[in-house]
Amino acid sequence: MSRKPLISGNWKMNLNHFEAIQVTQKLAYLVGKDELEHADVSLHPPFTDIRSVQTVIDSDKLGYALGAQHCHWEDKGAFTGEVSPVFLAKLGVQYVICGHSERRELFGETDEMVAKKVAAIQQHGMTPIMCVGETLAEREAGDTEAKVLGQVRAGLAGRTSEQVGRMVIAYEPIWAIGTGRTATAEDAQQLCAAIRSCVAELSGAEAADTLRVQYGGSVKAGTIAELIAQPDVDGALVGGASLDADEFARICKLGV
Ligand code: 13P
Repeated sequence: MSRKPLISGNWKMNLNHFEAIQVTQKLAYLVGKDELEHADVSLHPPFTDIRSVQTVIDSDKLGYALGAQHCHWEDKGAFTGEVSPVFLAKLGVQYVICGHSERRELFGETDEMVAKKVAAIQQHGMTPIMCVGETLAEREAGDTEAKVLGQVRAGLAGRTSEQVGRMVIAYEPIWAIGTGRTATAEDAQQLCAAIRSCVAELSGAEAADTLRVQYGGSVKAGTIAELIAQPDVDGALVGGASLDADEFARICKLGV
């Protein structure tokens, strides 16, 4: 089957809510409804900007999906500083990134926590974008597939085939994030295909066929076309280049 590409802009801890509104409005001017026939686009602002971006998307009836970068797995309670998936769903958030390498490395997010987040995000009707990826040392030691597929297996634990089929997995080699070093399109394809085969083994061919696998790591307007041309690369999770509306617009148009 042909899967519609998903281009996601992860703004990380950048852009205050005024700046986020400006970028969204500029993007809307550059990427209209017609262009969204070829790719779904999700925007993942910091928590303090989500309501503002939602208002722009709703009032201007833009075709972008609202996204978040992270959430807790519990609905509510004594978790100072955390954000409930229930609150995100109430804001109209559709996609939630979980297990980003920055959260795993800097904030101690474990595979078990990621699996709980995946479950909570789906329980509240949203789509997880579960990130997996290897460090440079792991790549050089020949451990790329073991690391990446280990994260995939752990993150999908307890999910039904139907639930897995509705997920997004983002393959983000850590050495390519924010470094300007992109995996070659062939490398991205190889790992995205390995992820899909692993999902087929775990959850069956149908789930593997509908699940979308994104590539992330220094994606730019000049590299998106070649990446998206790969049969198992179904989109991109874009960091730095998504902060610039002109550059991100070209990525959303798949580099054409
Ligand atoms: P860059 O596109 O800045 O490398 O970031 C990738 C990323 O981590 C997206 O989640």
